[in-house]
This record gives sequence, C-alpha cells and structure tokens, in this order.
Amino acid sequence: MLRKALLAAAASERIRELVTVTPATRTVVDRYVAGESSEHAVTVARTLRSAGLLVTLDYLGEETSDAQRAAATAAQYVHLLGKLAAEGLTEDGAVEVSVKPTALGLLLGSEDGIGPNVLGERVATEHLERIAVAAREAGTTVTVDAEDHRTTDASLRMATALRERFGSVGSVVQAALRRTETDVRELAAPGVRVRLCKGAYAEPADEAFAVKHDVDRSFARCLRILMAGPGYPMIATHDPRLIAITRSLGLGRSADSFEHQMLYGVRPEEQLRLAAAGAQVRVYVPYGNDWYRYLIRRLAERPANLALFLRSLGSGS
Ligand code: FDA
Repeated sequence: MLRKALLAAAASERIRELVTVTPATRTVVDRYVAGESSEHAVTVARTLRSAGLLVTLDYLGEETSDAQRAAATAAQYVHLLGKLAAEGLTEDGAVEVSVKPTALGLLLGSEDGIGPNVLGERVATEHLERIAVAAREAGTTVTVDAEDHRTTDASLRMATALRERFGSVGSVVQAALRRTETDVRELAAPGVRVRLCKGAYAEPADEAFAVKHDVDRSFARCLRILMAGPGYPMIATHDPRLIAITRSLGLGRSADSFEHQMLYGVRPEEQLRLAAAGAQVRVYVPYGNDWYRYLIRRLAERPANLALFLRSLGSGS
C-alpha cells in the first residue's frame, strides 16, 4: 500500500520540487546513481570491472514527450558506447547498456497520454537501432528495460524486431505482470537474453499481482522456465531466497550461460560474494541528472530507506 501511494504521489510536481531541491536528497541519490556525466559512468564502470563485476549502464530519463530529447538520449548512448569501447570496457559485452523505450520517444504522439502509438514506436525503434549499431561496433549488447504495462507489448516487439538483426538485443520481463509467465515461455529460446525482475511500477490489479507473495511466486515460476531453457537468463533480484533458488538451478548449467543482476548501491557485498563464488554478476548503473523517478522507485522498494529519507527532509539535513 505504502509503495503504491508513494509511486502515485511521485507524479505530483510539488513533491518533485520538494525532493529535488532538498540538499539531503543528494546523499540518497549518490547511493543509487553513478553521477551526472558519461565520465562518471565510465569511472564507476571501470571500478566495478576491476572488482570482477559486469556492468549495464542506464542514461536516466523516461516518458519524454519531446522528439529532440529522445534523439539526444540516443546520441548520448552512442557517445557513451564509443567512450566505453575506447577504454576497452565493452570487450565480450563486459559493459553494456540498458535503455528505456519511453526515453527514446515511445510515447511521442500519444494524444491521450494513455500509451504508445505507431509514431512513437517507429521513432523509438529507429533510435534503438542506432544504439544497437553502436553497441555492435563496440562489441557489446543492449537491453531494453521494461516500464509500466502500457508499454510492454511495444517494448517486447521493438526488442524482438531488432534481435533478428542484432542477435544480442535483450528483453526485460516483470514477474509482477500476470502475462509474464506466457511471455517468458516465448522468450526462453536459443541465445535470447532475458532479464527477469519483479517490476517496479504501480500497476492496476487486472494487469498485475497486488500482493508481494504472489509476485515472488510468479518470479520463481518464470525463473524455473528461463533456467531450464536454451536462452541466456539474467536474473535481476536482491531477494536472498530467489538468489538461492537461482544458485541451485544454475548447478544444472554452465556458469557463463546465465547471470545475476543487481542495482548499483543495493547489496554490494552480496554482489562481490556471488562473483567470488564464480557467478557472473552484472550491476545496473544509472547516471545522468534526470534521476527523480528512478530514485522514487528505489525508495518505494524499501520502507526503511523511505523512513530515513523522510526524516532527513524533516530535519533539513
Ligand atoms: P525485494 O524488493 O523483495 O527486495 C529484496 C531485498 O533486497 C530487500 O529486502 C532489501 O534487502 C534489498 N533491496 C531491494 N531493493 C532495495 C533498495 N531499493 N534499497 C536497498 N535495498 C533494497 N524493474 C522494472 O520494472 N523494469 C526494469 O527494467 C528493471 N530493471 C532492473 C534491473 C536490475 C539489474 C535490477 C536488480 C532490478 C531492476 N528492476 C526493474 C527493479 C525490480 O523490478 C525491483 O523493483 C527491484 O529489484 C526490487 O526487487 P527485488 O527483486 O530486489 O526484491
């Protein structure tokens, strides 16, 4: 309930202003975000690589209604991939990128604001293609993030269309959505990179499981399907129970045929522990100055973070 209320309240301009201008916010942002520029992103990627971790970089921003902004986001990814390649960080896909379709313009031309349309999908696909070309030249991969359920069909379509030309384009599915078990059965195909996460958006009850326990059970079902299949599962969770199940299912396959994924700033010791035990672990690292909605989703995931944050807002520290 608290999580849903927070995600809904985050849409308010007043709350956005309060959160973004309060100095205390910076400490929390710094925990979850690598910095504002591509230099910061590259520095963090280098540090994580030297600790034996894989990386996916996300340039922050989403739900743009501005065509120029969407084009600038694509250009930022192309620039970043060039920089990463020049530093030798992209070799064998060690550092890749994650992209949100709505940051590339998926919702452009959506008159009612309800969801993607043909124009937005075409624009976003063209931008994604530019990024996929740059990733291929850099020797690495792109993963198409999952956003709220309105965008699921278009996002999966975009990744599937490009996968036919750039085999390495990955998809993301959310265990919270009722449809995901069916999607996962289709995606569990040879060579397909699929990230399974719980889902970070407030969704209506007819689309998504409302109770955490049901989301966790859905995750476990999807996990079993992916880990038994011929694809490349990317298991994105910090949940100790689901990580333990992944470890045991992983015994039946080679260590380089799947990976764990976690967010920058969340359970960093566990990331290192798994890597030291021989697992592939990829850290999702966001950067850029449009961090507001990303931060709210991270706070909503953990009531303890939220309480701390609200106290610091109150004390003005
Ligand atoms: P859960 O929320 O149950 O947390 C399990 C434990 O992890 C907690 O008890 C706590 O110890 C720790 N933890 C979790 N979140 C924390 C936080 N914010 N701060 C501190 N500790 C925390 N979602 C989406 O909708 N689309 C996407 O494309 C992605 N992509 C993505 C990539 C990667 C690499 C990860 C790890 C996650 C995503 N997500 C996502 C987010 C995902 O859907 C989910 O919201 C979060 O991962 C939290 O869920 P957990 O599986 O960690 O479980």
